[in-house]
Amino acid sequence: MDESKQPVLQMTGISKSFGGLRALIDVSMDLFPNEILAIAGENGAGKSTLIKVLTGIYRADKGEIRVHGKKLNISTRRDSINAGIAAVYQNLGLVDTLTAPANVFLGLEPVKRILGIPFIDNSTMRSRAVAVLRDRVGIELPDIDAPTRNFSGGQRQAVAIARAVIGADLKVLVMDEPLAALGPEETRNTFNLIRAVRQRGTAIILISHNLDHVFQLADRVLVMRGGKHAGVAEVARSSKRDVLGMIVGSDVDVDAMA
Ligand SMILES: Nc1ncnc2c1ncn2[C@@H]1O[C@H](COP(=O)(O)OP(=O)(O)O)[C@@H](O)[C@H]1O
Ligand SMILES: [Mg+2]
Repeated sequence: MDESKQPVLQMTGISKSFGGLRALIDVSMDLFPNEILAIAGENGAGKSTLIKVLTGIYRADKGEIRVHGKKLNISTRRDSINAGIAAVYQNLGLVDTLTAPANVFLGLEPVKRILGIPFIDNSTMRSRAVAVLRDRVGIELPDIDAPTRNFSGGQRQAVAIARAVIGADLKVLVMDEPLAALGPEETRNTFNLIRAVRQRGTAIILISHNLDHVFQLADRVLVMRGGKHAGVAEVARSSKRDVLGMIVGSDVDVDAMA
C-alpha cells in the first residue's frame, strides 16, 4: 500500500447545530500527508465551525475524527493539541508588547531554577524561538528582541505560526483566513511561510474565500455550502469557474457574477 495515500486526518459524518441552526450537516473530509487542503465557501457556509470542531473549540453532535487512522475523542483544545493539531486564527492572538520568543512560548515558557526558585529561562527561550522560526517556518526576524507590534503583518504571521508549530509532533496546521487582512507583499510572504511549514512535513488546512489564493497555494479544495460538503476539486485539474460554481450552487449563472 502506498503510504502517502493514507490520510493524516479524516473527519467523517460531522454534524453540529447551534440551537435550531444546522451549521454542519454530515460533513466528511480527509487530509493527506504534505497536502495543502483549502476549504472554501460563502460566509456562513460552516468553514470555521468545521475547524473549530477539529480544534476542540466546539464539540460535534455527531461524527468521528481520526488521526493516522486512530479514532480520537476531541472535546477540548488540549485534546486537539495532543493529537498534533494546531491552529492559527485570523487575529493571530499575539501579545503586541512582548517579544517574538515570549509570544512563541506564551504559557509554555522554559524555566530554570536558581536556588530552587523558578525563573523564565530567557536565553533558552530566545535560542529555541530563533531555531523554530528558522527550521520550521523558514524565516529570520531582523530583531528578535523587539516587541511584536513593531513587526510587519507577514512577520507577525510567522510568529503566530511558530507558536503553533513548537509542539514537536505537529501533524496538521489549520489556518483560518490567514491572508484576509494582508496586502500583496505580505500575502506573498505568508504563502512562503505556509509552503515552508508544509515542506517540513506538516499538512495544512487553509480556510479562504479567495479563489486566487486557493489556486496558488492548495493541492485540493473542499467546498462547503449551507453547512454541507458541496464537493472537492483537485486544483491542478479544475478551473476557478468550476469551483465558484460549487461555492454558489449549480443553479446560479457564474458568468453573470463576474
Ligand atoms: N457559536 C455560535 N453560535 C451560534 N451560531 C453560530 C456559532 N458559530 C457559528 N454559527 C453559525 O453557524 C453557521 C456557520 O458559521 P461559520 O462556520 O462561522 O461559517 P464560515 O466560517 O463558513 O463563514 C453560520 O450561520 C453562523 O452564524
Ligand atoms: Mg469563518
